[in-house]
Amino acid sequence: MDGRQRDQHCAARERNGGAKAMRQRAGDFVAEAACIMHGGSVAGFPRGINCGDGGTAFRLRGTARAAPCFHPGYSRMGTLTPAFAVPIYTAQMPDCSAVNAQLRQLFLSRENADYVRHDPYPVASQGLFESRFDLFDWPEPCVAKMRDFCLSQLYQLIGEINGYDTQTLQRLHLAQESWFHITRHGGYFGYHNHPMHSWSGVYCVCQEGDEGVDSSGLLTFMNPHPASTMYMDMASLRMKSPYGNGSVALRLQPGQLVLFPSWMLHEVTAFLPKQEGFRITVAFNARFMMVGETPAPGR
Ligand SMILES: [Fe+2]
Repeated sequence: MDGRQRDQHCAARERNGGAKAMRQRAGDFVAEAACIMHGGSVAGFPRGINCGDGGTAFRLRGTARAAPCFHPGYSRMGTLTPAFAVPIYTAQMPDCSAVNAQLRQLFLSRENADYVRHDPYPVASQGLFESRFDLFDWPEPCVAKMRDFCLSQLYQLIGEINGYDTQTLQRLHLAQESWFHITRHGGYFGYHNHPMHSWSGVYCVCQEGDEGVDSSGLLTFMNPHPASTMYMDMASLRMKSPYGNGSVALRLQPGQLVLFPSWMLHEVTAFLPKQEGFRITVAFNARFMMVGETPAPGR
């Protein structure tokens, strides 16, 4: 759009007046915004016009100007705080090959009716086997070794971010539920969280056959700030971590543990091996009682 066309466009918008603008579809807001971005102005519009098509169009007041705020006397002086951050913790079990091989064999041998969960979660798909929820109580040494790794990491994380010393952590008693998943071609687990628990975890035993398929079998956390995308422009679109607006997607490695707050919405994208293959993970939920303490929100 050259200068003459821009002037005509903005003048036409001005002549149309508020009444016509109220009949515009919501998508016309883009043109309105573009008009303002091009330097036009349209008088007489109230703020928050109902666009008549189920949405509300907001006219921006003011005119975009060339970046006006670089002043040599004011270098960056403020402090940037990552407020409302979400703790996602990852750890790699050392020397995990042998225990993962034993877990793999054990879980595949128990992918049957005796060990299946009988009330599967509704967002689970065909192609995903979910075991009953007593895994950490099994007596096999490979299960105990994996469990001890997961829970020791969880306790250390809790101690670090709550400021608890070892004596305090020893008073923090645990109740948990734990299970395994075997996911085959096309299996996925839709968005969900884990109510009635404070911390959840996923441990990866293996993910085989989908190497090079970027979208396959990703543990994906939804950005918990849904209102952050209510208005996007180039001043906010490309914010870097931890301020970005997108989700966090992880392809887990064998022996990798991920811990996260149970309230976080997450999914596992469809597992898409090129030929044969499966993905085996362990998951658990944990809730706690501090002996001698009653939790009080906000403390
Ligand atoms: Fe989950």
